[in-house]
Amino acid sequence: MIKILVCGVAGHMGKNICELLKNDAGAEAVCGVDLHTPENFSGNVYKNFSEVSEKVDAVIDFSSPACLNDEMEYCLKNNIPAVIAATGYTKEQLAYIGECAKKIAVFRTANFSVGVNLLVKLVKEAAEFLGENFDIEIVEKHHNLKKDAPSGTALMLAESANSAFDEKKPYVCGREGNVGARGREIGMHAVRGGTIVGEHEVMFCGEDEIITLAHSARSKKVFAAGAIRAAKWITGKPAGMYDMKDVLKNL
Ligand SMILES: NC(=O)c1ccc[n+]([C@@H]2O[C@H](COP(=O)([O-])OP(=O)(O)OC[C@H]3O[C@@H](n4cnc5c(N)ncnc54)[C@H](O)[C@@H]3O)[C@@H](O)[C@H]2O)c1
Repeated sequence: MIKILVCGVAGHMGKNICELLKNDAGAEAVCGVDLHTPENFSGNVYKNFSEVSEKVDAVIDFSSPACLNDEMEYCLKNNIPAVIAATGYTKEQLAYIGECAKKIAVFRTANFSVGVNLLVKLVKEAAEFLGENFDIEIVEKHHNLKKDAPSGTALMLAESANSAFDEKKPYVCGREGNVGARGREIGMHAVRGGTIVGEHEVMFCGEDEIITLAHSARSKKVFAAGAIRAAKWITGKPAGMYDMKDVLKNL
C-alpha cells in the first residue's frame, strides 16, 4: 500500500482523489497540504510542506503554481516522486520542474484522461496531414472557478499541433477589436461558465470544410483516477520527467 500526500487536499480535485483512495487497495491518502481545512479527511493537513512529519511514497499536487518551490524542496530533500497535476505554471517554473526531474522522478501532465491524451496524438497527425492550408483554432470550456486561461490542456493541444510545423506558429488568445485578417497562428479561446468540467475542441478550418476533433470530460473522477494511477506508476522510478505517454504505452 503506497502512502500519498495530497497537495490541494481541500480543493475540488483533492476531494475527488481522497474519495477514490478510500476504496483503493493499493494506495491511501495519509496527509495533505492546503491553506484550507477539508471536510471528511482523517489525516493531518498542513499549511506548508516544511511542517509535514509523515513518511510518504509520493506527492500528488492538485493545488496551484504557488506551492511549487515549497513542494519541490520537500520532494528533493526526502527523495519523493511528485505527480504535478496543477496547471498555470510560468516558463521559469516549468524549467525549474525540469531541473528537479534530474534528481527525482516527476510526473507532469495538464490532463490525466486517456481520451485527451489520445486527442493530443490525433491533433498532431491531423496537423501533419492537413499542413498550412488549414487554420487551427482551439476552443476550451471550463467551470466558472477555473483560475488559468487558456487551460493547460489547450496549451498541450496547441503544442502538439505545432510540433507538425518546422516554423512554429504563435498562439493568439482571444481576438478583440479591429484585428484584421487572420495570420499564421494558432487561435485559442477560453469559455468559462457554471460547472463545465472540461471541453476541448480543435478545429482545422480549410476552404469549404472544417474538421473538428473534440473531447468532453463528464466528471472530475477521470482526472483523479489518472493521477492515482500515475502516483502508483511513478513510485520507485528513477529520476526523470514522465507523462501519460509513459503510462499509456500504446499511445
Ligand atoms: N492535470 C489534470 O488532469 C487536471 C485536472 C483538473 C484540474 N487540474 C488543475 O488542478 C488544479 C486544482 O484544481 P481544482 O479544481 O481542484 O482547484 P481548487 O481551487 O478547487 O483547489 C485548489 C486547492 O489548492 C489549495 N492551494 C492553492 N494554493 C495553495 C498554496 N500555495 N498552498 C497550499 N494550498 C494551496 C487551495 O486552498 C485549494 O483547496 C488547477 O491548477 C487545475 O487546473 C488539473
